[in-house]
Amino acid sequence: MSIQKGDTIVITGANKGIGLETAKSLLKSGFKVVSWSRNAPEYQHPDFKHFNCQIANHDDVKAVCEATVSELEGGRLYGLVNNAGLGWFGRVEELPLEQWHEMFDVNVHGLMYAIRQVVPVMKAQGAGHIINIASIAGRDGVVQGSGYSATKFAVSGISSALYKELREFGIKVSCVYPGSVNTNFFDRVEAITAHSNMMAAEDLGEMLDWMLKTSANYLPVDIEIRPLKPRG
Ligand SMILES: NC(=O)c1ccc[n+]([C@@H]2O[C@H](COP(=O)([O-])OP(=O)(O)OC[C@H]3O[C@@H](n4cnc5c(N)ncnc54)[C@H](OP(=O)(O)O)[C@@H]3O)[C@@H](O)[C@H]2O)c1
Repeated sequence: MSIQKGDTIVITGANKGIGLETAKSLLKSGFKVVSWSRNAPEYQHPDFKHFNCQIANHDDVKAVCEATVSELEGGRLYGLVNNAGLGWFGRVEELPLEQWHEMFDVNVHGLMYAIRQVVPVMKAQGAGHIINIASIAGRDGVVQGSGYSATKFAVSGISSALYKELREFGIKVSCVYPGSVNTNFFDRVEAITAHSNMMAAEDLGEMLDWMLKTSANYLPVDIEIRPLKPRG
């Protein structure tokens, strides 16, 4: 069965950026949203809950998933938007190893931890939708982004294998490949300052809301989105 009003969607990292704007779109559509993130969102709504979670920590993810399920009150955990992520950029011989490891811990391992917690719940329901946020850097390498691109290629690989593994259980798996979006993501990137010719996070939120609302036998597998005029 496709998504219903009152279903719960988990978004990792919904305290700002794409995650927060997606939460707002989903709440407008009448869904319940739970954020698993390190910092609580300032934005408040009666159907928007936050659980403190370091997504790179398996015990944290397991605990917040159990807490989320225990508060469903008979409702469904229909969706997981794997959005939490970060990018460090630099020449391969200079990029600090901790930054390389942090990207893999959050973008790849954390994403897998969240998936392995929700899949049994979705299998029991016979329905669910996992959306993984990759990047265009996960389709084509970017200069000084060897680590970030590697993590996003991994997200693409996980998504491609899992949509084939989980479709027979009524679970959709989609992968989204955004170009540049005007968010705090670029605070870590010395060479780029976020600007208004990048895509708006609100537009991604609306698209993710649409993806989750697609009918039961309709699976968006890979979606690449870019700003039309990145230089204005
Ligand atoms: N902006 C772009 O141009 C762009 C393009 C393509 C793909 N993406 C992808 O889109 C996703 C969202 O990025 P954004 O642009 O919205 O950036 P953002 O504004 O920096 O938001 C990133 C989110 O991830 C959370 N997060 C980071 N590390 C975490 C951790 N260890 N545990 C839990 N939460 C963590 C952050 O929360 P806290 O830091 O508060 O914990 C925040 O909510 C990322 O996966 C990014 O790779 C972004």
